[in-house]
Amino acid sequence: MMKKFVIPSILAAVLMGNMPIAEAQVSSADSSHDWWKHAVFYELYPRSFMDSNNDGVGDLNGIASKLDYLKQLGVDAIWITPCYLSPQVDFGYDVSDYENIDPMYGTLQDFDRMEKQAKARGIHIIMDFVMNHTSDQHKWFVDSRSSRTSKFRDWYIWRDGKASGQPPNNWISNFGGPAWTFDSTTGQYYYHFFYPQQPDLNWRNLAVKNAMFDVTRWWYKRGVAGFRLDAVDTLFEDPALHDNPVLPGKNQYGDPNTKNEYNDKLPEVHDILRGLRKVADEDGAVLIGETWTNDIAELRKYSGAHNDELQMPMNFMFTMVNELSAPKFRNQIAMADSSAGWPVWVISNHDIQRSYNRYGDGQHNDAIAKLMAGLYLTLRGTPILYYGEEIGMENNDPKRPEDVKDPIGRLGWPKEKGRDGERTPMQWDAGPNAGFTSATPWLPVPASYATHNVATEQGNPDSVLQFYEHLLALRHRNQALLDGSYVALNQDDPDVLSYLREYRDKVVLVVLNMSGTGQQASFDLTAQGFSGHSITTLLTTATHKKEEPTTNEMHLEPFEVYIGTLSK
Ligand code: NOJ
Repeated sequence: MMKKFVIPSILAAVLMGNMPIAEAQVSSADSSHDWWKHAVFYELYPRSFMDSNNDGVGDLNGIASKLDYLKQLGVDAIWITPCYLSPQVDFGYDVSDYENIDPMYGTLQDFDRMEKQAKARGIHIIMDFVMNHTSDQHKWFVDSRSSRTSKFRDWYIWRDGKASGQPPNNWISNFGGPAWTFDSTTGQYYYHFFYPQQPDLNWRNLAVKNAMFDVTRWWYKRGVAGFRLDAVDTLFEDPALHDNPVLPGKNQYGDPNTKNEYNDKLPEVHDILRGLRKVADEDGAVLIGETWTNDIAELRKYSGAHNDELQMPMNFMFTMVNELSAPKFRNQIAMADSSAGWPVWVISNHDIQRSYNRYGDGQHNDAIAKLMAGLYLTLRGTPILYYGEEIGMENNDPKRPEDVKDPIGRLGWPKEKGRDGERTPMQWDAGPNAGFTSATPWLPVPASYATHNVATEQGNPDSVLQFYEHLLALRHRNQALLDGSYVALNQDDPDVLSYLREYRDKVVLVVLNMSGTGQQASFDLTAQGFSGHSITTLLTTATHKKEEPTTNEMHLEPFEVYIGTLSK
């Protein structure tokens, strides 16, 4: 696909004209860097990315047809959420064969073709490894449930009830109801942290470990560059099955609130992660973790005591800052930055309401979408961009319970409407179904697709998409943004979040006005060897031409992103 390259007037000058030559290319000084530290990752939900065969559901050939778009955007790696054979109870997070592609997405040959085409463009493929559980239709579980003496019996967690009609303990499924389901064939209960159709694997069984490690080897041989590991927190359970502490109140499904003390983040998980990492290292692969943690110490544990576990544990604490608050984001960044380890920034995903809705104020949503981009794409660390964030896609939550596709939304309605809203089809153009399919799409697109779609935004210099493209282009060629340290500035400012990224003599200043009013900022950079310096603008969302700003005086428009460079 040839890109119509339209440079916005304000940005044209800063991007083309004023860009110092030295910044045009990242030096090779850091070529020993792990590739994923300089990469921009893109999470895509295959059901919703692009439908090539017009059945209303996206597929691998659809993804392949959009690789040029992703390249143009500045994406280096795509994480595809599960596309393996699956009954689709949890839309692919219930795998019935780890070494095959679900026919709704295509074939292994389609996968290989897509992988080659991606590689030709320098784009890595990351698969999703659903390791906590399989589908109840997986042949291992089908055999396991068939008899107490099945060879696969101990591949899952089977236990007697406490008493007749009573599950083994009080553990509650994350998706509602008890975490135990009785199976009358063998008269025992099996454990499932998620849906009953997702029985937990028994990771204490060496045979499970070997079989699952082999799955990763099989995909590495096919050219996969790494895995995003699903639900790693819950791989292990207390073998003594102690009851979890009961807390006051009920959850959205009407179950008693409990604290997952005995079935979440057990220390044994680290042995498995070390093992998986060894296998990954044989192929130079990267492991990304779905790591839901309460604090940074917990998150860092996932890197391993000797950096021998996950290279990229995702920081979800960032997604829990649910307001545009400079102090709150500053605090989060400081925590992530102060701990050893490479931060991994996420602002949205297929389980979390889109950032456009979480931070938008209803009036300046596009400006705020750019502001959020200006934040997570300029921090020290690796960003993972959720598909559609780059065009300002919004949640399209179901309006009626009968429209809900995600089972948790049906169970928890109206308190829990499920995750359909953040999984709607990618908006490619202003035509029917946003150009995603000519059939009825599996989920409806929001009305805002008419303005927020790739084709329209490619033609609009002020669009969210063009801002993302310019920002990612800048990030890729600017050594300070890639490798520089993070230095917080003006830490008491309640409205403006500002920081330096400093790499040797290269310094980038990032200034984010998180408020809806104009702000004045000034920066004392004497500690960094600057005083009253003028700044060369690299990128800004300002709509009025700025006087060339100095460190002593900078005026910021509401929700402005300002990125400039200083040289000594
Ligand atoms: C986390 C995944 O992100 C989510 O979509 C899924 O439902 C659960 N794990 C269960 O696999």
